[in-house]
Amino acid sequence: MTTFDPIADHRSERPSTTESGAPRQSDANSLSVGPDGPLLLHDVALVEKLARFDRERIPERSPHAKGSGAFGELEITEDVSRFTKAGLFQKGVKTPMLARFSTVAGELGSPDTWRDVRGFALKFYTQEGNFDIVGNNTPTFFVRDPMKFPDFIHSQKRLPDSGLRDNNMQWDFWTLSPESAHQVAYLMGDRGLPRTWRNMNGYSSHTYMWVNETGERFWVKYHFLTEQGVESLRNEEADILAGKDGDYHRRDLFDAIKRGDYPSWRVEVQVMPYEEAKTYRFNPFDLTKIWSKKDYPRIPVGRFTLNQNPVNHFAQIEQAAFSPSNTVPGTGISPDKMLIGRIFSYPDAQRNRLGTNFNQLPVNRPVVPTNSYDKEGAMQFFHSGNAPVYAPNSYGRAYQDEQGPVDNGWEADGQLVRAAYTLHAEDDDFGQAHTLVREVFSEEQRGRLVETVTGTLLGGVVEPVLSRVFQYWRNIDQEVGDNIEKAYRQHAGDQVPGADPISAD
Ligand code: HEM
Repeated sequence: MTTFDPIADHRSERPSTTESGAPRQSDANSLSVGPDGPLLLHDVALVEKLARFDRERIPERSPHAKGSGAFGELEITEDVSRFTKAGLFQKGVKTPMLARFSTVAGELGSPDTWRDVRGFALKFYTQEGNFDIVGNNTPTFFVRDPMKFPDFIHSQKRLPDSGLRDNNMQWDFWTLSPESAHQVAYLMGDRGLPRTWRNMNGYSSHTYMWVNETGERFWVKYHFLTEQGVESLRNEEADILAGKDGDYHRRDLFDAIKRGDYPSWRVEVQVMPYEEAKTYRFNPFDLTKIWSKKDYPRIPVGRFTLNQNPVNHFAQIEQAAFSPSNTVPGTGISPDKMLIGRIFSYPDAQRNRLGTNFNQLPVNRPVVPTNSYDKEGAMQFFHSGNAPVYAPNSYGRAYQDEQGPVDNGWEADGQLVRAAYTLHAEDDDFGQAHTLVREVFSEEQRGRLVETVTGTLLGGVVEPVLSRVFQYWRNIDQEVGDNIEKAYRQHAGDQVPGADPISAD
């Protein structure tokens, strides 16, 4: 395998060069006809510099554009070999990794402290290939069918005419999509404003699969529990920070690691025996639901620590490509429809955002050799030399020919339909949201939730959406819904929503 050092390769001891390696005459003065004369097109150094500048920006991630991250290490401290044969999860194994945290809806330059779900993306460079968990700081999600995901993101981003973000559009989508209730309750609660990325938990959210040495299958949900403690910002603090330091979370993580204060997270899993999925009281593949910890307590697995800052944000963070499709033996996906949609969407987005050969970039490249018959495309760097380019072949290049049931699969049968999931005994859209708001949130937290929701409603939500919001919250919790409407009416006074949207201040 070719080895190279991307930094030494681009920053040698020589004075600056052109990109083709010849000495560059100047970094300051263009070539002109006399000191005051016009510039010359054959000034390669100037043309190259301007042309490269013109192409510095690449498309930002479609959601989760603003974020940052760091490198670190996962260490497995417990024996979970009864559940998975995956090398990275065996006791004592240490695996280098990259984490990236992000907001969902904001663009590349948006403030870190806008209320939003936070992305929690992890890439483990394992001896069996890259293994990624691309989760959030919440264990659930807004929708349960990938068909609705682009609409959801559109509703969180900007209006087509003014280019402004719009609370009315957000609440319109949510109230017409009642499956969003659980996640919206998280978002409007304290978790919607983590104090720092170091102070938040992460979750796979989806159900994944584990397979052990004997071929036994289990459903798992991953939990990453902050050892810095969960802490949140208040709305007022977040607003001030958004103005004073839009990069507050990015700065906090970078500074902490720089001063040697390495953040760490405990890795735990909920494990469900394969057969129990069929009869569990909630559909275990419905991403809007959690599994009760009473039914499936969390099992400790290990810990990861972030201890190394990027040396080049663009190369190592912006160009990082995480995908739930990156699984390794002993792990797998599940019938969660959202997850299956994501398996397609991430590498597709990355081919567009970074180019076909994005997996050849150092930050994405596995630490083990690859042997892929996929070839060529823009910017190919690694290749298979003169080896056969097709499989099967008679000339010694290895290929795979697995047949029969896959060890991390499941049974599927039925007519082709467009339908919601089959309901399990206790499935509905509002039940778990109610439990969160009534049994998990304290009185104080419920008070803050009412305040936060009311604030968003006062920021331009109009009829018919407004009435639907009150009903949506009453469906979650009668008292909370009543309090939201009361608080709204008190603040809105006599103004008629719809006639004259009321501003947030
Ligand atoms: C069908 C549903 C979904 C689709 C189609 C989708 C699509 C995408 C796309 C296209 C990106 C940008 C990828 C890139 O350019 O590198 C992205 C980023 C991301 N998504 Fe999703 N997403 C979905 C649901 C989810 C869910 C349920 C979660 C969390 C549980 C999630 C977490 C993330 C995170 C954390 C990132 C940022 C990854 C990074 O830091 O680079 N997404 N998503």
